[in-house]
Amino acid sequence: RTPTTLFEAIGGEPTFRKLVDEFYVGVASDPLLRPLYPEQDLRPAADRMTLFLMQYWGGPNTYSEQRGHPRLRMRHAPFRVGPAERDAWLRQMRRAVESLDLPKEYEETLWDYLERAAYFMVNTDEGD
Ligand code: HEM
Repeated sequence: RTPTTLFEAIGGEPTFRKLVDEFYVGVASDPLLRPLYPEQDLRPAADRMTLFLMQYWGGPNTYSEQRGHPRLRMRHAPFRVGPAERDAWLRQMRRAVESLDLPKEYEETLWDYLERAAYFMVNTDEGD
């Protein structure tokens, strides 16, 4: 049977867990990003991000069952997301995506989305 969603095609939940775990290893030591997150524990943030991405790519809807409609721009309003934060986020995410070693076509599809989403999340009026 051929996989019908990108979620399935790239290996389901374990792949998304690995992606987000790698991303948060980067966040933990990123001087721009780390201060935006709770002081103690990055785990809850990592879990929300994992569930969101799984749902977005056609996996289970657990994110919305727990958190409701994503409304990601609204949920980021409390944080300053300028061009520098966006670029730092994308740098850590790029590393994480590459660590998965996906077939090029899937990697590109995933990356295009993440890049667009990161640009969309900017909530300051500074230029690049
Ligand atoms: C939450 C930062 C982009 C998805 C958060 C939080 C911070 C943050 C500080 C709160 C942590 C927490 O959940 O406790 C940023 C920065 C970005 C960025 C600096 C730079 C562009 C993105 C993008 C996506 C995303 C592009 C999706 C593709 C999420 C999700 C949550 C979250 C799903 C949890 C929302 C919830 O249910 O409360 N982000 N984010 N973020 N972010 Fe981002």
